[in-house]
Amino acid sequence: MPNQSLPDYSLSPEQVPLVGSLALNDTERSQLKEQIAQKLQAQGAVLIAHYYVDGDIQDLAEQTGGFVSDSLEMARFGRDHKAENLVVAGVRFMGETAKILSPEKRVFMPTLNAECSLDLGCPPEDFAQFIQAHPDHTVVVYANTSAKVKALADWVVTSSCALEIVESLKANGEKILWAPDKHLGAYIQTQTQADMLLWSGACVVHEEFKAKALTDLLRVYPEAGVLVHPESPASVIDIADAVGSTSAIIKAAKELPNETFIVATDRGIFHKLRRENPNKTFIEAPTAGDGATCRSCAHCPWMAMNELRNLDRLLTDAAYRQKNEILVDPALGVRAKMPLDRMLDFQA
Ligand code: 13P
Ligand code: SF4
Repeated sequence: MPNQSLPDYSLSPEQVPLVGSLALNDTERSQLKEQIAQKLQAQGAVLIAHYYVDGDIQDLAEQTGGFVSDSLEMARFGRDHKAENLVVAGVRFMGETAKILSPEKRVFMPTLNAECSLDLGCPPEDFAQFIQAHPDHTVVVYANTSAKVKALADWVVTSSCALEIVESLKANGEKILWAPDKHLGAYIQTQTQADMLLWSGACVVHEEFKAKALTDLLRVYPEAGVLVHPESPASVIDIADAVGSTSAIIKAAKELPNETFIVATDRGIFHKLRRENPNKTFIEAPTAGDGATCRSCAHCPWMAMNELRNLDRLLTDAAYRQKNEILVDPALGVRAKMPLDRMLDFQA
């Protein structure tokens, strides 16, 4: 419990789905959810959502036979599901990954404008030059990249499996060229002591978490556990009780004995955390300096583009659907699939 009178950083459950669907009232939201569920079924489509998207969309995915998960398991679920149409609620690399793994399926997203700063920060032409300058390195790229960057790689990893994969490459004596997230790369380098050259990308959301403010907050909640996604800066990771992917954070919240947690990742995850742990308290890690009460940060602006309304439109309006279908050049897809298959086989 707090032992000082400082601002309350916790969000009420109503504040958690901060994305556009909040502009709808409860009746509109439940009507839209009902409509979307019917259309998914009528169109033989399955909804696959990331933990960061609107809580209503996460619920819909689970209620309609779809799936909510981290980026690794989204990829696996899409690949293994028999539906001909996949609707991916997340950011573009997630839709692209689904298409690369299942070129025979049609993959749609509520909006293809949902980008990722890591993907945007790693242009394939520049990355190709980086590779050319270090031909003796094994190229390991984070899933948060374009199909073109994946097609240049030996391995794709997500934060769920990066540590194990890099450990095994190191055991083989391989030197690693890593892209794009410098924080995740540095974390893995520290953990494995692997020989790694790092690209200098960052996640606009996780980079904002601040160690000093987090330490101050811990004085207010001394019993709180700290859960950190490894896209955060090293100074924040150093304070963590558990570091890991979104699914690892959810697992740690369940398994650790703490009743209160400070969580350094996108606040969309609070929907699942609160559902699964109704008696625990989850507090957003601070994203600004001393005493800050930032409530609009810690949410990926691109994940927030997934809304009930554009999801419904996708299933209703043929022109909108055409505009928001993921297409990957088949030859590029074949090349990009190799490092993705390696990742999925590694953890099969
Ligand atoms: P996860 O692979 O942990 O789900 O993370 C994806 C992501 O984009 C984190 O910002
Ligand atoms: Fe990319 Fe960061 Fe958004 Fe994840 S939270 S999709 S890494 S910008």
